[in-house]
Amino acid sequence: MGLKLIIAKDANGVGKKTALEIINLLKVKKDAVLGLATGGTAEAVYPHLIKAYEKKEIDFKNVKSVNLDEYKGLDPKNEQSYRYFMNKNLFDHVNIDKKNTFVPSGIGEKEKILDDFNKKIEKLPRDIQLLGVGPNGHIAFNEPDEVLHANALCVKLNEKTIKANSRFFASEKDVPREAFSMGMGGILKAKKIVIAAIGKGKAAAMKELLTNDKITTKCPVTFLKLHNDVVVVIDQELYDAIPELKEKKANKK
Ligand code: GLP
Repeated sequence: MGLKLIIAKDANGVGKKTALEIINLLKVKKDAVLGLATGGTAEAVYPHLIKAYEKKEIDFKNVKSVNLDEYKGLDPKNEQSYRYFMNKNLFDHVNIDKKNTFVPSGIGEKEKILDDFNKKIEKLPRDIQLLGVGPNGHIAFNEPDEVLHANALCVKLNEKTIKANSRFFASEKDVPREAFSMGMGGILKAKKIVIAAIGKGKAAAMKELLTNDKITTKCPVTFLKLHNDVVVVIDQELYDAIPELKEKKANKK
């Protein structure tokens, strides 16, 4: 166990190999609880889940899901909200019961949102958690900092993240400055983690995860080293951008 590295040819290959981890689980566990994620990398994964569903390889009837995060201030109808993203990119295309899907609310009283989120995480142990990573090493919205948090929290997004995520908004000033996020403890509670990263922009963060033994709050993704069942899926471009990896044995398939 520990950390297993898979290298795919391109973005679509990363999506396919990452989706396969979820598909293989759903084939044996019909009522699995999935930890789901948003962002460009997740966008490469979901079409492969939808395809497998359409081919009747998997069924979402008894599946439940918990998402990682949501922008503060965005309601579910807002096209930039993560609830909207999930409906559009996955839930509307498979037979999951939306009542069984949880995305933290972006609107309402902060204390209550965090309390609901923490309770959900406790009540629904995830069989697998899908993760992306920010160029600065953030996972969900756990930003590099002096300290990180175990429980769900309301985060001030850092400039790098606002910039990186502005591509989904009309302009940078439209990106919310705060978000609700699952904490590091919540993420690490998932039985298995599959993290996908595409492109050389993620090299600095993934180098910290893959090529040394350090764990640092300055690069939250390094905390995955504390988990004993992590699958990392990256594309060839990202692999090539981390020369130190070449010396390590990669599980090329
Ligand atoms: C956002 C999300 C993260 C995601 C990250 C990477 O900040 N909160 O959960 O991992 O983006 O996104 P992308 O896959 O678009 O690079």
